Amino acid sequence: MSDKYSEVIKANIAVHSKVAAIYSKTEPHFRPENISVVEKILKDLVKETSAKQLLDLGCGTGFMINLAKHHVGRVVGVDVTRAMLDQVDTTGPAKIELHEHDTGSFPAEAGAFDLVTAYSFLHHLYDIAPTIGTAAKALRKGGKFYADLDPNFFFWDAIKELEGKPGHAAYDPIVQREIDAVAHKDDQMEKEHGIPTAVFNDAEYGKDVAGGFKEEVVREIVLKAGFSDVKFMYYWYLGQASVVNDASKPREERLANAVLVDSVLQSVMPLSRQLYKYIGFIATK
Ligand SMILES: C[S@@+](CC[C@H](N)C(=O)[O-])C[C@H]1O[C@@H](n2cnc3c(N)ncnc32)[C@H](O)[C@@H]1O
Repeated sequence: MSDKYSEVIKANIAVHSKVAAIYSKTEPHFRPENISVVEKILKDLVKETSAKQLLDLGCGTGFMINLAKHHVGRVVGVDVTRAMLDQVDTTGPAKIELHEHDTGSFPAEAGAFDLVTAYSFLHHLYDIAPTIGTAAKALRKGGKFYADLDPNFFFWDAIKELEGKPGHAAYDPIVQREIDAVAHKDDQMEKEHGIPTAVFNDAEYGKDVAGGFKEEVVREIVLKAGFSDVKFMYYWYLGQASVVNDASKPREERLANAVLVDSVLQSVMPLSRQLYKYIGFIATK
C-alpha cells in the first residue's frame, strides 16, 4: 500500500466522520426521484442474476443497503469510516452485515455474491484497481458489478477549460454554476465543516485530483480484473435541472422534455459525452 493510498483513506475518514450525521439528509442522491431511478436499475439486476446476496462497497450510511434489503436475502456493506457505518439502519427483511475496512484489501468470500454495488464511491479512491479486484473476486461467474454516480472526466475537463478565460462574455447561469462548483466546493467544505481544502480534495481524489473517470481507462481496469464485459452509462446532462424545473410548463411536459433532450444527446454519443456530469457502469463477471 503506497503512502498516498493510505493518505487518501485517512482523508476520507476525516471528511466522512464530520458529515456522517447529516449525510443522508443533505446529499442530493437521497432524493426520492433519484432513489426510484436507482431502485429500478437494482431490481432489473436482481431479476437478471436471480440475486440472493449483495456486497455494497463504500456503503456509507446505507443508501444502497436501504434499497437492496427489500430485494435480496443477505447484504454485506463495507466502509472505512466507522461514523458512516453507525448510521446504517440494519433492521428489515434481509440479513445485513457491516465491515469497517478498506474495500481494496477487504477479504471478500470468493464467488459468494450475485451482485456487487459501488454507488457514489469509486472516485473517493486513490487507485480503483484493488477495489475492482475485490468486486471481481466476490462475484460468482455471471454475477454483476454496478457502479454509479462517478464524475465523468470529459465534463469536468470541459468546465475547467472555461474557468477564468479572460475577456469571455458572460456564460449562461447554467454553465457559470458548474464553473463555480468546480472552483469553490472545497472552500465551502472548509467554511461549513472546518475541513482543510487539501484533505477534502484528497478525499475526492478521483474527481478533484485525477479529474474524473474516462470510460476507456475504467474499461481496461475492469476487464483486466477478470470481468468479461462492461457497459457504460452517462447521466445528468448540463441543463437537465432547468428543463425538469421549468415552472412555465406542467410537470408531465417538463419530464417528457427532459427525456426527449436526453434521448437526442444519447443518440449522438460520443460527441455529446462531455455534456454529461456522471458516469456509471455495469460489468459482468
Ligand atoms: C460519498 S460516500 C458514498 C456512500 C454511499 N455509497 C452512498 O451512496 O451514499 C463515500 C464513502 O466511501 C467511503 N470510503 C472511502 N474510501 C474508502 C475505502 N478505501 N474503503 C472503504 N470505504 C471507503 C467513505 O467512508 C464514504 O462513506
